Amino acid sequence: MSKRFYITTAIDYTNGAPHLGHAYEKIITDVIARAHRGFGDSVFFLTGLDEHGQKVQQAAQAEGLQPQAYCDKLAEQWRAFVQALGVSNDDFVRTTQPRHQKVVQALLEKLHAQGDIYKAPYEGWYSARQETFLTDKERREDGSWDSSYGEVTRLVEENWYFRMSEYQQWLIEYIEATPTFVYPDYRRNEVLGFLKNVTLDDLCISRPLSRLSWGIPIPFDPDYVNYVWFDALTNYFSVPASLGDPVACDVLGASAPAKATGPSLWPADIHVIGKDILRFHAVYWPIMLKAAGAPLPKQILAHGWWMKDGEKMSKSTGNVVDPLAVIAEWGLDAFRYYVVRELEIGPDGNWTDEGFRQRYTSELANGLGNLVNRSISMLNKYRNGVVPNCHSELEPDAVRAVQEVENCLRQRRLQAALSGIWDLINKANQYVDRTAPFKLAKDPEQSGRLDQVLYNLVETCRVLAVLLNPFIPNTSERIYAQLKVCSEPELWRHTAWGGLLPGHTVGAPIPLFPRKDLVPKV
Ligand code: ME8
Ligand code: MG
Repeated sequence: MSKRFYITTAIDYTNGAPHLGHAYEKIITDVIARAHRGFGDSVFFLTGLDEHGQKVQQAAQAEGLQPQAYCDKLAEQWRAFVQALGVSNDDFVRTTQPRHQKVVQALLEKLHAQGDIYKAPYEGWYSARQETFLTDKERREDGSWDSSYGEVTRLVEENWYFRMSEYQQWLIEYIEATPTFVYPDYRRNEVLGFLKNVTLDDLCISRPLSRLSWGIPIPFDPDYVNYVWFDALTNYFSVPASLGDPVACDVLGASAPAKATGPSLWPADIHVIGKDILRFHAVYWPIMLKAAGAPLPKQILAHGWWMKDGEKMSKSTGNVVDPLAVIAEWGLDAFRYYVVRELEIGPDGNWTDEGFRQRYTSELANGLGNLVNRSISMLNKYRNGVVPNCHSELEPDAVRAVQEVENCLRQRRLQAALSGIWDLINKANQYVDRTAPFKLAKDPEQSGRLDQVLYNLVETCRVLAVLLNPFIPNTSERIYAQLKVCSEPELWRHTAWGGLLPGHTVGAPIPLFPRKDLVPKV
């Protein structure tokens, strides 16, 4: 069976409510997933939740709930959030699921059996209040500690370590030889810079039960649970393994959780993550996989962080964007459009309500919405909605746009892809102004010319619906519905010019993006 296109997002901590950053990551991943489905790939898109560890245990405590009950409650909210974003994920992983835990334990067993995991004492500064070891980085120049740490004492603790340091040179060489492994390039340089300047320590992958109970038990030592990042990263691998992916099952051998007859998923094609967790994904994760004898994911795609009005978003200052509130007011596709159009994958973004409103009005309402509305209106008005003979005046523009948008999508340049689509929208709107169909309609001798113009316009709208499908699928379907086209706007091959057939009758126009600035506020 041929390999499926396997794409993931980070799994979010269940220690609070979802926000704009989480929404953004899921939407850009969704755009790539939908685009690849359109290209004809068999896609598997995984997202989910990171439910173990201290942060979650503390959040549960603060609400007076057992961690599992707390996570179950939040999982409902997060699943609903993913749905509200129109995300087309194929699975939803929770790290508390047995299917995941089994694979984490199998991986730990394997690494332990082959000597990649060992037990050793660690002595360091410990804050009991924060339940964490501190390093000199957290210490003031005069040797004192911030009062938030409470009393800081020396503590010796035995833990399990993963021999990460042994793989440092291998990883440097791998990343140097694999330019596409980390995207964008400057993030790759960041990882290489780090790897070349720092000597990697072995990774502490356990926490004693006495300090932390909310984790996956270390299978060969009942006094410990697994460090949350080892657990969390493994989700990308545990889901394929539990579904019977042949490569993942082969890596786990006799402890594979399923018969190796499932879909071919591993290695992942893309892990989409935020820049703050790059080191975990571009250093720890490849080394874990290498040690386990598993092929590495093909790409780590690191996006930037959103701010609002130039400031860090923070619940305590109230400087936040609530995606669900924006969607309730402006519609899902306006939200999806704005976050993808505002920045490429890589640099940080800055949300402003004014910028959102502007893009809505000029690009969605006046640009796309107006083109579709007047094209379908004129066909109804002048030709009773019946599509005239095919004509190809705008075909070269459409073909160019399709080419460019596909290239951009394959290069993960989603913002540039949208710019390419809007070039076509602007061309078509200019075409209306230039050809002035409302004038042609007054002159019976221009009837043939009017047919040509109308065909070019409605066919461009149809092509646009296909181009827009990965980004704003609801709008894409609404355009198809208004055109009364039955083929699927999800399939990229339907970008080919000439899909609307002469004699076909389109439906009535319905505004796609009502102009909010023209509606009086109540
Ligand atoms: O880090 N802008 O979970 P998380 C853009 N559980 N992206 C943002 C953002 C912002 N303001 N804030 C957060 C974790 N993100 C771990 C991941 S993966 C095996 C484990 C992104 O809930 C962040 O960069 O803190 C990350 O990719 C994702 O949201 C989840 O963050
Ligand atoms: Mg975080």
